[in-house]
Amino acid sequence: MGDRRPYQVTVSDSSGDKQLPILDGTLGPSAINIQRLYADHDLLAFDPGFRSTASCRSAITFIDGEQGILLYRGYPIEELAEHSNFLEVSYLLMFGELPTSAEAQKFENDVRHHTLLHEQILKFYQGFRRDAHPMAIMVGVVGALSAFYNDDIDQMDRVRREEAAVRLIAKMPTIAAASYAYSVGRPIRYPRNDHSYAANFLQMLFGLPSADYVVDPVLAKAIDLIFLLHADHEQNASTSTVRLAASSGANPIACIASGIASLWGPAHGGANEAVIRMLTEIGTVENIPKAIARAKDKEDPFRLMGFGHRVYKNVDPRARVIQKAAKDVLEHLGIDDPLLDIAIQLEQIALKDEYFVERKLYPNVDFYSGILLRAMGFPTNMFTAVFALARTVGWVSHWLELTQDNHGIGRPRQLYVGHPRRPYPSS
Ligand code: SDX
Repeated sequence: MGDRRPYQVTVSDSSGDKQLPILDGTLGPSAINIQRLYADHDLLAFDPGFRSTASCRSAITFIDGEQGILLYRGYPIEELAEHSNFLEVSYLLMFGELPTSAEAQKFENDVRHHTLLHEQILKFYQGFRRDAHPMAIMVGVVGALSAFYNDDIDQMDRVRREEAAVRLIAKMPTIAAASYAYSVGRPIRYPRNDHSYAANFLQMLFGLPSADYVVDPVLAKAIDLIFLLHADHEQNASTSTVRLAASSGANPIACIASGIASLWGPAHGGANEAVIRMLTEIGTVENIPKAIARAKDKEDPFRLMGFGHRVYKNVDPRARVIQKAAKDVLEHLGIDDPLLDIAIQLEQIALKDEYFVERKLYPNVDFYSGILLRAMGFPTNMFTAVFALARTVGWVSHWLELTQDNHGIGRPRQLYVGHPRRPYPSS
């Protein structure tokens, strides 16, 4: 993009010329401060897809789409993926700094002791059809959870806010695992205090009442990595949904339910499920050219799922980490998944094709994550539920940050293109 600073933006109208202030962040593009544009000039800015709009100040995550850089509180995602773990990264995203060992221990204990669900919550699952999508169940159950924790969340009290955030992070694996267990007719399993966060999720998901479940440490590390890579991603659609809902002062648990609903869409978190369906439909490496042609055909609604990104105009750094993890887990399990070969070939062919090169369409986080989850035994309809579980950390981190930022309720304006005033027809 290049550095075109210093900017000067002037609004010229009947009252004369007025320069709009420019705001500079620590990294990334500067922003024209248009907060007074309507009040001073009776003018709105038009940006329906928010392609050029900064909705807030945030210090949590930074993305450089051109370079393919992702930083959590300044730390590169590749380094966190190699050296850290999901709960340490959760602490970092929520509170801004890596925890000391004592802080990490306390945080892990706090999370561990909030993993249980109120027994009455478990009854909500019985109301769903057995074939309900796990994301439909998660939206419903998390929404219902807000009824159990409403009066005791004083959003003005930092300690109560942080307690609500920890509670959500702790209960999501239990809720997600119960959604899967219910959908396959198994009894819902309880979390265990002698398991790590990742291992607990796996035992609740795949454990059976008829036998002890021994967690494979390689798979526990792989799911912890998946959680870490999906934890936050600045102002994506679901995080922006949570922020807008939270700006009215709504119950934070209900706000997270709105984030789950937004993440479900195939253009967002639902893409990992769509990638597996797409690769399965392609079926063989020989069919790749036809799929590429369909993705380029404007008359055909087919898109290369897992490709392209609103911000990344380079390879999503998370995709590379997940691709390697998928290869390692498949090798560890001795699985030869033809979908991985198709995905790798598809990426190589697409990245040489002018259509994708010109539009800077590269693999994103969803392109390989489904292959890794499938190798671990996750059913396709659970992929986005895993994404929602992980992104709960980002959502609560942005909720905590928003409660410190007093910009008031988010209320966009519009460019009205409807009928001018007209009288009701006289009979
Ligand atoms: C996530 O925002 C985040 O940070 C999200 C996320 C996170 O961690 O929260 O990173 C997670 O949601 C990743 C994205 C997952 N979605 C997909 O993989 C679905 C497939 N991708 C596309 O739907 C699309 O790329 C989006 C939705 C991701 C981005 O769409 P944009 O920014 O609105 O881009 P666009 O639709 O305007 O596309 C620009 C051009 C168009 O062609 P032209 O009109 O210029 O001729 O690129 C084409 C599009 O048709 N295009 C594609 C394509 N993606 C864009 N063509 C074929 N296949 C694709 N996948």
